[in-house]
Amino acid sequence: MKETVNVLLIGDIVGQSGIRALFVGLKDLARRTDADLVIVNGENAAAGFGLTPEIAVSFFSMGVDVITSGNHIWQKREIYETLESNPRVLRPANYPQGTPGSGHVVLEKSGVKFAVINLQGREDMTPINDPFRSASDIVKKLRSENAIVIIDFHAESTEEKEALALHLDGEVAAIVGTHTHVQTADERILPKGTGYITDIGMTGPEPSVIGVKTEIAVRRSLTQMPIKMETSEEPAGIHGVLFTIDIASRKTTGVRRIAEKSVI
Ligand SMILES: [Fe+2]
Ligand SMILES: [Fe+2]
Repeated sequence: MKETVNVLLIGDIVGQSGIRALFVGLKDLARRTDADLVIVNGENAAAGFGLTPEIAVSFFSMGVDVITSGNHIWQKREIYETLESNPRVLRPANYPQGTPGSGHVVLEKSGVKFAVINLQGREDMTPINDPFRSASDIVKKLRSENAIVIIDFHAESTEEKEALALHLDGEVAAIVGTHTHVQTADERILPKGTGYITDIGMTGPEPSVIGVKTEIAVRRSLTQMPIKMETSEEPAGIHGVLFTIDIASRKTTGVRRIAEKSVI
């Protein structure tokens, strides 16, 4: 019986280029990292805006165990039914009551029980329910499961992400930030044993402006006009993080950033 498990989290898959990179690179990455659980954020997979049922199915066929999301999840209405019917496709838990789907899931992999929670920040974002209280409520509810708890906190603000991580330090195994699409270099183990990184970055086209075609993003900035955004088709790199977690204590013992340049 092994003593540790490896959890691989991969940041926002952006458009066709990101999907292609995942298709080409995930299997090998999961093998090299000896990943027991693979979580990807899929909020930008459908040409930058949302997720479709077909793309979700393709992610699962590539070896993904859980798909998390964020503010863009509502942009393809056809995913609403999947959010209701497939417990492994999550939307942030702190959207108001009545929103389709669920923000957490409990599952078993490699004989180990995991819980994945998806939350969304409120600073410089939609003012949804308090992610701190929502997180504490779900963690409390999950306590009897004795699961290894992993959180994808989809948020803009570094302050909000660090505060939530330290608020839950020792209560959950690991917390990652997503949403900014730019990976931060602050991966670490917090004082009470929770693995943390402010943002794992995107799996999307490079060069681009957070996944958007460079010329469009620059023109938007120069003119301040609402020019329609289009996802770049440049080759994508894969960005994420790998946590090694002690099964008995459910604490993180190792953190490694994943940054694989231009997979295709
Ligand atoms: Fe995103
Ligand atoms: Fe987002």
